[in-house]
Order: sequence, then structure tokens, then C-alpha cells
Amino acid sequence: MTISRSLLCVLLIAVCAAKANGQYDGPDEVELLQLEPAVVPDPVDGVSRWWYTPSQKAHIYRHKYPKNIAAQPRQGEDLRLPGDILPRLYTIRLLPFIEVGNWTTDGYVEILVDCVISTVNISMNSLDLTIDLASITVTDEQTGNPIDVVNFIDEQSTRELITIQVSRPLTVGRQYRITMKFISILNALLAGFYRSSYVENGETKYLAVTQFEATDARRSFPCFDEPTMKANFTVTVGRPETWTSTSNMPLTTTEPIVGMPGYVWDNYQTSVIMSSYLVAFMVSEFIGIPAEPGLSNVEFRIWARPDARNLTDYSRDIGPRILEFFESFYNIDYPLPKQDMAAIPDFAAGAMENWGLITYREQYLLVDPNTATARAIQLAAVVSAHELAHQWFGNLVTMDWWNALWLNEGFASYMEYLGTDAVEPDFKMNDQFILENLQYVFGIDALETSRPINIEVNTPAEINSMFDAISYEKGSCVIRMCADFIGFETFQRGLTRYLNDNAYGNAGQDNLWAALQTQADSENVLLPATVKEIMDTWTFKMGFPLITVTRNYQTGGAIVTQNRFLLRKSNDTTDPIVYQWWVPLTYTSDYTQATKRDWLSVNEVSKTLTSLGAAANQWIIFNVDQQNYYRVAYDAVNYGLIRDQLIADHQRVSDNNRAQLLDDAFTLALTELIPYSEALDLTLYLKNERDYVPWHAVLSELNYIDIMLYNFVEFPNWKSYMTSIVEPYYTAVGFQETQADPHLIKYSRIDAMNWACRLGVADCVQNSLSTYATLMSQPDNLAQIVSPNEKSTILRTAIENGGQAEYDFAFNQYKTKGDTSFLVAMCASKQATVLSGLLDMLLDPTSGILRSDVNLVFNNVANNPIGNEIALDFLINRWDDIQNALGSAYFGTWYRYVCTRQNTQAGLDKLIQLRDAHPVILGNSNSVKQGLETVESNIKWVSLNEGEIGTWLAGHQPAKNFEAIRQ
Ligand code: BES
Ligand code: ZN
Repeated sequence: MTISRSLLCVLLIAVCAAKANGQYDGPDEVELLQLEPAVVPDPVDGVSRWWYTPSQKAHIYRHKYPKNIAAQPRQGEDLRLPGDILPRLYTIRLLPFIEVGNWTTDGYVEILVDCVISTVNISMNSLDLTIDLASITVTDEQTGNPIDVVNFIDEQSTRELITIQVSRPLTVGRQYRITMKFISILNALLAGFYRSSYVENGETKYLAVTQFEATDARRSFPCFDEPTMKANFTVTVGRPETWTSTSNMPLTTTEPIVGMPGYVWDNYQTSVIMSSYLVAFMVSEFIGIPAEPGLSNVEFRIWARPDARNLTDYSRDIGPRILEFFESFYNIDYPLPKQDMAAIPDFAAGAMENWGLITYREQYLLVDPNTATARAIQLAAVVSAHELAHQWFGNLVTMDWWNALWLNEGFASYMEYLGTDAVEPDFKMNDQFILENLQYVFGIDALETSRPINIEVNTPAEINSMFDAISYEKGSCVIRMCADFIGFETFQRGLTRYLNDNAYGNAGQDNLWAALQTQADSENVLLPATVKEIMDTWTFKMGFPLITVTRNYQTGGAIVTQNRFLLRKSNDTTDPIVYQWWVPLTYTSDYTQATKRDWLSVNEVSKTLTSLGAAANQWIIFNVDQQNYYRVAYDAVNYGLIRDQLIADHQRVSDNNRAQLLDDAFTLALTELIPYSEALDLTLYLKNERDYVPWHAVLSELNYIDIMLYNFVEFPNWKSYMTSIVEPYYTAVGFQETQADPHLIKYSRIDAMNWACRLGVADCVQNSLSTYATLMSQPDNLAQIVSPNEKSTILRTAIENGGQAEYDFAFNQYKTKGDTSFLVAMCASKQATVLSGLLDMLLDPTSGILRSDVNLVFNNVANNPIGNEIALDFLINRWDDIQNALGSAYFGTWYRYVCTRQNTQAGLDKLIQLRDAHPVILGNSNSVKQGLETVESNIKWVSLNEGEIGTWLAGHQPAKNFEAIRQ
């Protein structure tokens, strides 16, 4: 499911940039010096002494420490811990000071370690921590004798680690206890133990919460911060007594902090054995609302700010039920006694699977059934299912290093579909998979800039870059493919085997393949090579094949070939990799019969299938239900047979395959592998198509043609053809949403209305206008009058087709309610003066358009067919004014936005001129390069395809169709 990863990437980039600049947002010195000393108890013996407030201590330590000035940031292996000393049990005590001007945590850690290789150096990860050198102790656990610490090497700023040197080598097989006190900053980087805030009754409230994955536990306490270095964790956190805290495990006791009236320690049960990145705690004024006890065996609570208590019902209901499903799917009990899920106001990722305490961005946990769109509700279910799936796959069994992150994320991205389906069968998640994951990631993985699923990574920045569509979406696709060729139930039992074999430990992909192999062997599943051999081709090579099927209508057979599929080929590739895969072939010419199967081996470019089992006048379809990760191209005759079947009775082809056929055909036409007429022929049946999946797949393809033809003579014919296929779809779903509508009907209606209104279908336009008129008379009843699903189309259509009154109302709603949907709708106006007026307002701070929304406005005006040229002229003519009002930050992205719809030589010349006029700002920008590349390929597309598509459209005008039917 493609959600917030791009946003997450932006955030991660922001965090990395902040880290690189050395900003870490601690209190500054002036503030610190004004603080009074306070009584803080020593965490070791609990006896209170006069200490300075933590922030003052941080200030003092920072200056006392010898800085490793000579050290350069080092790369690669140098960042890894040696593995000679391994943690067994952490006892962590943290007292966060969640106060403006303080923002620090007083920390104490005690780590029981095993010595595996004798050494005098105890290295562990630590970042931005102020360590109290005098507090460091190392003790022989067996004898209780202290071991002298002779040196402390601080490489936090380079290698993110510290080393404690002891006077004599530690003995292999012995245990030692290491203790130290330290201070950390409750930073604003959304990483480590950080601070977050929200407003309640006009007052800003703060909380402290963790986000440790991938490498930020080390910002909270010194630790062995690598996924294989698993240990038990005993957490204690301090808090004001009127606040609450929560952590991975259940609370055992709460006791007063001696010497700090009004503060208490919360002691948590020792955790199961787990990786450091899964440790979590939170100190806040949140409330934890329990789920109905009957829904699952474990105690389940949803934590949120008190104002949001009414928004937890949905998650409280589905969370425990999804957990139950996974227990039975994996056939392994959830190992912890409780599961908390918390909604965090400022959160970098979408959600985080900390064991027993899953944290979420608010929008994925808190759902208001009255205003949430169908998509928002689906996302909430999917995100919960994803994180709950990790409780086994990821938490119980963890990847052995970040190169195999895809095992965690690809797997959870696969399981989120099964988990959601278990509690919301109406969502038809299995139908949505190919749209959300497979066809989406094809677009990324068909670029030469893609990457293999499994690649070596070492630095935190490299590790963070693994959280991308290749790990998530491609990962989920190859797992789904594997499940298909092994057989779903064998696959499921193989997973249980893998989880049991590796429980509380780590595993690489080879362990997964081995477990699946053992299971497959024990069930006599026949494969042409080992699971590992097959799957290695998909995980170690980037990209995917195009399978070309050329039938021999005399023999009944076919030649099947594999070639890497690329959207664009550069001329100078020197890539030595042979892009061939072990390809599971599946095909059918009758869905009531068992799917036929064969293989292309990694060594075969092509292969002859002697008999497809289809007569010469029967179609054949490969990649049944698009279970496999490749595209398919056919010969023209087979395309014709498929086209005729779709027109005669499209239900004889599965809905996934109808979506696949359309998506593949238009992508192949785009890359000049088949003529557009063949792809367009497949759309002829769409006037009978009512399913969401094929429609959604094809509309995104048709959208490109729509953009390209806009200013050309073919456009009227294009519009009438589009109307002839979309109108029946729209009429079938209707304008009015009802409570009883199935989920995918709501999705269908969004697509159908969007296109019908845009094409000017009268019913859609009239209904939108009258709904908007009702809204204008009762502006405070938005939720009752306009379905959240239809809102953007209704508002946009009313502006497009309405006049000044509709526009003024929208602007007023935006200004008074801050609802940006109205602002976006304003950008859909068809009047050039309105659009240029909107752009002018971006430069006027008093215009009423917020500075934070200027990007939204420019993007939407540039995206409007009438606004596109206006936006380009605005950039050209108002350059200096834009710079004066908004600075230079927007130029690159705005340039890129404009390019999407540009497809003429005149436009390209104008754009190049603009770039050359501003060499400093635009000359070297990547967005400018991408933008110009887009325009060039648009121009090429027009020159190649305008004529062919024009001819096809002329032959397929609705009236002519009608005549053809009558003849
Ligand atoms: N483990 C991740 C959270 C994460 C992402 C941590 C990136 C560190 C860096 C979590 O399981 C996850 O994948 N979250 C997704 C949401 C999910 C529903 C796809 C996310 O944050 O995008
Ligand atoms: Zn995940």
C-alpha cells in the first residue's frame, strides 16, 4: 500500500539534513544558565542529592568532554560493533524533563553483557548523549569485583559509538555488568526519545515518545544498536504523577521519586528478548482506552490525547481482531501479555511496530467515522494490520542486518492485505493488491535507477534509504509470487516453520527460503530449482522481465521469451548483470479450469511451449490474476481474441487480469512495443465494465493521453470517446452515496464522478452544482451535505461550472475554516483571469492564502489545462516578484510542475529560455532536468502517436459504434 513513504522520505531527509548540519535542537546556553538547580535523585541508589537540572548538566558535560576533533566520519564496516561483547539484559531508568527550556532526560543504564571474544574494549552505540564519565563502572558478575576503567573513547560524532577501556582483558564466557549515567536531549528530530506537542483548549501540551528504528535507540541510551544484538530490557521511566507512561511491557509498580515531590517512577516488566530498535516508551498526558475484553486474548489499549478519545472506536475494534487473525494465521500465540497502540501528534513514519507499543501518526489510528473518507478508513485498517503483522515477522524473528530489511517490510506489506481482509472482507483487499503495490512499483522498478531488493548497506543514511517502494511494494510482490508457485497453504505452513525455527532470533532471506523448501519438500511440491535459486534472481537483480508470448496457431504452441522491461533505455549502459530470472509461467484460456504452469529458467531467454491447450480461435492469458511479477506482451492475433472476448463477455476473464491487460497494454504502447490501436481496442468493452480494479488501472493510463491530446485537434473525438465509455460506469454507480454501498463501489464512484464531471456529463455536473448550492445555504453542515468521498469532485465541479458566487464562497470557507479542499477547488476555475489572479495572490501576504499553501495553489493551477500556460508565464514574467515574496526555494519544483503538461516545441523553447535566464537557480537543478526530460518525451510521444490515436478515434466515435452495431 503506497502511503506516506514519500512523506516519510522527506522527513527522513529533513532529519538527516538537520543531523548533518549538527543541529540537534537542544536548549541553548543562555536558557540553561537561567535555570535553577533542582533536587534530582541519583538513579542508582534513589537517594536524593543536590544536582543541577539535567539541562544544566548537559551543558556542563558537553564542555568537559574531550572532543574527537581529528576524527573524520568514516564509512562502512567501521560503523559496526565488533561483536565481542554482547548484551543480555538492560536495566534502563529514564527521567524526562518535558518542559520548555529544559528538554532533557536524565538517564541511567545497567547492561549485563556476555564476553564472547576476550577484549579490553567495550564498544557500544551512543549518539548525542552526554555521559557522566565518573559514573561508568564495569563489574565481574560472578565475583562482584569491579574492573578498572582506564579510558573512555568518545566517537559519537563520527562512528556513533563509545568505547570503555578496562584495565585487563575480559574473559570469554563470563558476564559483566556495565553501568553509567548520561543525559540525552528530548530533541525535535522525531528520532530517539523525542518531544512532540499538541494544542488543547488553546494551551500547548508536550509529550515525550520514542522512535528508534532504524538506528536511533542510541540517541536515548548507550546500547548495542544492531538488530542481531537482542537482549531483555527492563524499563523504568519517571513522570509527573498526574501524567501517564507506557512501554513495551505491562506496568508492574509505581513509586514516588524520592526528593522530587509530584514525580513517580513507573517500573515495567522485563521484556522478552528483542532488538534495540523495538524498545519504546512514552510519557504524556494521554489516556489509554481499553478495547472490549472479548475481542482478543491480550489486553489491548488505544492511547490518544484526551480530546481525541472519541476517535478510537474503529481502531479499538479492528486492532484486537486483526491480532487474533494473525495468531491463527501464523499458528503462534502473540507472546506479550498486552498490546498498546498510541497516536502521536508529531511522528516521522506512518506507524512503528515497537513490540507491545505500536506508535502511529494520528491520522492512521484516530478515525472519525463521520468525516473520514473510505480511503482513510481503509488506511487505518491497513496500517494496523501492517504493524501487527510485524509483531511476528520482524519482532519475533528479525532480519539479521538492514540489507534484508525487505524481509520485514515486504512481508508486512504482503500481510497487511490478509490482515485487513480478515476484519474487513468488504474492502476486497486482495483485488486491490495489484493496483496499490504491483502496478505502482512496476513504474519505479522499470527505471534504470531502480535497485535490487537486497543490497549492502552500512551507514545510517544508507539504512534509512532502504525504507522505499522496492523493500515494501516490490518485496510484497515477490513474496506473493512465491506463495503462488509454492501453493498458499504450503507457504503458510512454511512461514510457521520459519518463525518457530528462528523465534527470538534473527534470520536472513536464506533462512526463509530454507524453511519454505523444507515445507515444500515435505509436501511433495515440485519445483524446477530450489526456492533459494528461484528467489535469488528476484531479490539480487533489479527490475523485472517482459514476457513475450508469440503463439503458433498451427501447432497450438507458443514461443515465450524474457527481456528486462525498461520504460527508457539509456544508450551507454555498461551494466554487466544478465537480466534474466527464474520465471513462473501461469496461463489459462478458461478460468473454470486449473491454471496451467511452466517455468522459464534463469538461463533461458526463450522457450517453446508445445501446447497451450487452447484452440486457434481461443484467447490465452498469461500471468493469471497477476500473481507474478512481470509484464506480458502478446501477438496481434491473441490481442484480437482477447478484445473480442472482453466485448462479448468480459466476466470470462478475471477482474485482476482485465486490469493487468489494460495496464500492460498501455505501458507497452507507451514504450512502443505494441501499437496504440491494440491497447485502445482493449478499452472498447469498458462501456460494460463495472469493476473498480480494471477501471482504476486503465484510468491512470488514459489520463496521460488526456493530458497529451488536450490542445490538439483530436481532443473533441477523444472527449466523446471517453464519455461513451465513462458515462455508463458513472450511471451504474450513480451520484448519490448510500450507507449500504460496498467499499469498492465508493471507490468506483470517486473515479467515475471525477471523470464524468470532468467530461461534462450533465447528471454529474448538475448534481454537483445543486449539492454545492445546498452547502452554500448551510455552510456549517458540510459533513451532512457532502460525502467526504465526493467532496473534492463536487467542489471542483462547482467552481469549474459555477460563477463568482461559487468562487467567493469557496474562498471564504478556506479563509474561515482553513479547509484546503476549497482552495484546491478554486484552482480548477476555467477562467484565465481567475487563475492568474490566484497566482498573483501567492505574492501578496495579505491575500488570505497562507504561506504554507502556496505550493498547493501553484501545483493545482499548473495542473489545470487552462492554467498550465498561465503558470509558465507567471514564472517567466514574475520571477523577481516571486523571489522577493517567497525566496528561491520554489523555483525548481514549480518548473517541474509546469513541465508535466507541456508537449510542444514552442513550450520546450520557452522552458529552455527560462532555464538559461536563471543559470544559478535553475541551471543545475535536478527537477529542471527531469522536467525537460518529461517535456522531450511528451513531444516525442505526440509525434509518434497523435496521428495513430487520431485515426483510431475517428473510427471509434460513439455514433459510428452505434451504426456498426446496427449493421
Ligand atoms: N517499520 C516501519 C516504520 C519505519 C519506517 C521506521 C521507516 C523507520 C523508518 C513500519 O512498520 C512501517 O512500515 N510503517 C509504514 C506504514 C505502513 C502501513 C506501510 C510507514 O511508516 O510508511
Ligand atoms: Zn513495516
